[in-house]
Amino acid sequence: MPDQTSKVIVTGGAGYIGSHTVVELFHAGYEPIIIDNFVNAEKSAVKGIENILGHKVKLYEGDCGNMDFMRNVIRQEKNVSGIIHFAAYKAVGESVAQPLKYYRNNIDTLLSLLELMHEQTISRLVFSSSCTVYGQPDALPVTEQSPKKPAESPYGNTKQICEEIMEDTVKSGMAIKTVALRYFNPIGAHESAEIGELPLGVPNNLVPFVTQTAAGIREKLTVFGNDYNTHDGTCLRDYIHVVDLAKAHVSALHYLERKSEKSSYDVFNIGTGKGSTVLDVIKTFEEVNQVKLNYTIGPRRPGDVEKVYAEVSQANAALRWKAQLSLADALKDSWRWQLKLKKKSKQLP
Ligand code: UFG
Repeated sequence: MPDQTSKVIVTGGAGYIGSHTVVELFHAGYEPIIIDNFVNAEKSAVKGIENILGHKVKLYEGDCGNMDFMRNVIRQEKNVSGIIHFAAYKAVGESVAQPLKYYRNNIDTLLSLLELMHEQTISRLVFSSSCTVYGQPDALPVTEQSPKKPAESPYGNTKQICEEIMEDTVKSGMAIKTVALRYFNPIGAHESAEIGELPLGVPNNLVPFVTQTAAGIREKLTVFGNDYNTHDGTCLRDYIHVVDLAKAHVSALHYLERKSEKSSYDVFNIGTGKGSTVLDVIKTFEEVNQVKLNYTIGPRRPGDVEKVYAEVSQANAALRWKAQLSLADALKDSWRWQLKLKKKSKQLP
């Protein structure tokens, strides 16, 4: 266990996965320090975190790629023991339209943080990677040793490049211990409904689209294709509750604390090990929440992989972590969060 003064910087700490991780870090005895520029996050997330914790959290508003700003934060805070780096652009479609924005931001911020960690002798880094690095795997479940496939989008490519940057930095002998967590599909919200996902505009991802349709914000959900080679013809993914995912970051920090090497790079799949199709998600959502969803079957979405789910035994053993919550739990929590958002928006003028 960390001592009570173990300070951890969380870049993107007001975002969807970041905010849940800040809560879990605090519960585990760390002192999380949020860095966020609020480009894709809301200040209300910080309030939500504080409501859950019954405690103020430290927040520095700014860009984690700005070395001067970050240097000041680190000097002011003193004794920062590690960094969890979430801050990144994440919209696959936008990355195809604006690749330079994605390459500049997602790669630059990691480079700046690594340089700063070297300069300020901070030795632990946990990085947000994605199962997108596997593309459509040749064999399932996908393991950390499965080959990476050429990226389908600039977003996906930034995750591959960032993993390589971390690996090369470690190979050079720099005193830094790193973990890249390859997330499968994060869904759900904190059970308090104080924090959750806040998609900008029309959601691209399945579950926010499902909850917005059920709430009457969207007219209809389109299921992208039902002629895939799965039990019902719709695409299959490994959906993981965001609270389980958040806890994996705490476990990754503990893992780095246990590690005796001065320089290391490890990568872990963070999923449940189970696959669910789009229709499984819809049916489970309807059942557990007792709501009917208006949906239709449409054509395939270009670039979608048919099926992917994680082999999680390496994360289970090395990180001493295992997903605890079910698809039903996640879909209940997503719906509770959506209802809360709807209530709030009704109070708006
Ligand atoms: N889907 C629909 N209708 C929708 C939205 C999604 O049928 O309106 C389907 C998709 O076709 C897919 C599944 O729901 O089969 C999940 O789609 P998401 O967009 O929620 O998630 P993806 O698996 O496509 O994307 C996720 C992450 C990305 C990451 C990608 C890598 O959101 O960041 O995995 O596979 F790049």
